[in-house]
Amino acid sequence: MPQRAVVEAIMRIMNTAFDPAYGEAWNQPQVVAALVLPETRAVLIGEDGAIDPEDLSQVQGFALLRRIIDEEELLLFAVSPEARGKGLGGKLIDHCVASSRAAGCARIFLEMRDDNPARWLYLGHGFKPIGLRRDYYTGADGQRRNAITFMQILA
Ligand SMILES: CC(C)(COP(=O)(O)OP(=O)(O)OC[C@H]1O[C@@H](n2cnc3c(N)ncnc32)[C@H](O)[C@@H]1OP(=O)(O)O)[C@@H](O)C(=O)NCCC(=O)NCCS
Repeated sequence: MPQRAVVEAIMRIMNTAFDPAYGEAWNQPQVVAALVLPETRAVLIGEDGAIDPEDLSQVQGFALLRRIIDEEELLLFAVSPEARGKGLGGKLIDHCVASSRAAGCARIFLEMRDDNPARWLYLGHGFKPIGLRRDYYTGADGQRRNAITFMQILA
């Protein structure tokens, strides 16, 4: 089982970081169910930019990743609203990419709602858009939105 305190730190960010209109946030059982799988992991970032800080009350962002053979997928990624615009998201994504590369992964993928401003972060940190998945997300209003698939070659 994942450490309860880690799940709580993730949920603290989750519950403020995602606009409920888009229905992108996961609930706690979904996070726990993902993290019990051996191929899935969480990376946390503290307010001072430390990766996986010991003091979990300092956590201001998280990434959930899944590694299958030599491909990594960034499942979910967020920084708390009050800590944004200070480079934490950039540091976290750079760490995820570097750790995937160090583990021997050949590619890292992610999917993003096509109007999410997070695109600037991904484009600025080595990801390239490689595809469009039509009507991939369903918002709280029932409206469907497209997803863009981004990829970065690591090997
Ligand atoms: C996306 C997110 C993680 C960025 O976190 P952050 O800590 O603010 O990121 P940074 O401060 O490192 O900014 C990263 C870069 O993206 C750019 N950026 C971020 N938001 C932007 C926006 N709305 N418009 C233009 N550029 C933007 C910044 O200019 C910065 O560029 P730089 O590194 O060249 O200076 C954060 O906004 C978030 O949690 N959003 C809600 C959850 C979400 O949508 N997650 C992504 C799901 S795919």
